[in-house]
Amino acid sequence: MYQTDRIEDLCGTLRLPYLRDHYQQEIDHAIKAKLSFHDFLLTILRAQVVQRVDNSINRALISAGFTAIKRLEEFDFSFQPQMDEKKIRELASLQFLDKHENIIFLGPPGVGKTHLATAMGVKACQANKRVAFFTVQQMISELVLASTTGSLPRFLQKINRLDLLIIDELGYMDLNAVQAGLFFQLISKRYEQGSVIITTNKNPDQWGEIFNDSVVASAILDRLFHHCHPFIITGKSYRMKHFQQTKTAT
Ligand SMILES: Nc1ncnc2c1ncn2[C@@H]1O[C@H](COP(=O)(O)OP(=O)(O)OP(=O)(O)O)[C@@H](O)[C@H]1O
Ligand SMILES: [Mg+2]
Repeated sequence: MYQTDRIEDLCGTLRLPYLRDHYQQEIDHAIKAKLSFHDFLLTILRAQVVQRVDNSINRALISAGFTAIKRLEEFDFSFQPQMDEKKIRELASLQFLDKHENIIFLGPPGVGKTHLATAMGVKACQANKRVAFFTVQQMISELVLASTTGSLPRFLQKINRLDLLIIDELGYMDLNAVQAGLFFQLISKRYEQGSVIITTNKNPDQWGEIFNDSVVASAILDRLFHHCHPFIITGKSYRMKHFQQTKTAT
């Protein structure tokens, strides 16, 4: 067996794919840069670790179920000048997760609620936290399915193992009594056990309409708003940015 095949085989056995695929390139570089044996070893081990961390972050990003990956770095705060950028950046340090605090992004369409909620989730994945993203519609389907198959306690337990639960688009779908009851169970089980980020287009005084029941709505509100960082976004839709600019130009 050739020496190269042997190296590749051993890297495979030890699960070192970066080394398997790049060792020749790294050797060439080490010779050219006159690296010491120690420096060479350090360089290739570090590169392998970086690849492993990247892979595990990518897996976490995929399994979180984001509809699209959005990052805080891509958010243009100058477009939403009333937004408390400092507070958002502070929250992005993720201390709120350790304190089991919640975040609510409230505002009209297109102002960046899903973007910011996702960006927090991406940060959490990068910090090796367990994250899941659901739209209200997806969450209700999961809850109804779990309830009808007798696996609701198991589903709620699974959700409670998350460091961050993101529920997007509360208010775009009215819930019937069964759905509202299941949603209440979710929030009540999660209360003070782990963080939730909610995005909504409805003010708290309109939540009675979403849940078709003002008592259930206020019980949910009470739990979510206790230990919560609310952001009320009143700005313009970013989706209309181009349209607005075109209109101004003409
Ligand atoms: N300030 C911003 N800077 C950069 N991109 C933004 C900003 N605000 C929104 N966007 C982008 O505009 C699009 C719409 O934003 P997003 O989906 O977050 O809106 P939303 O508030 O969740 O709206 P909806 O209530 O309709 O769901 C996305 O592609 C998002 O990345
Ligand atoms: Mg949205």
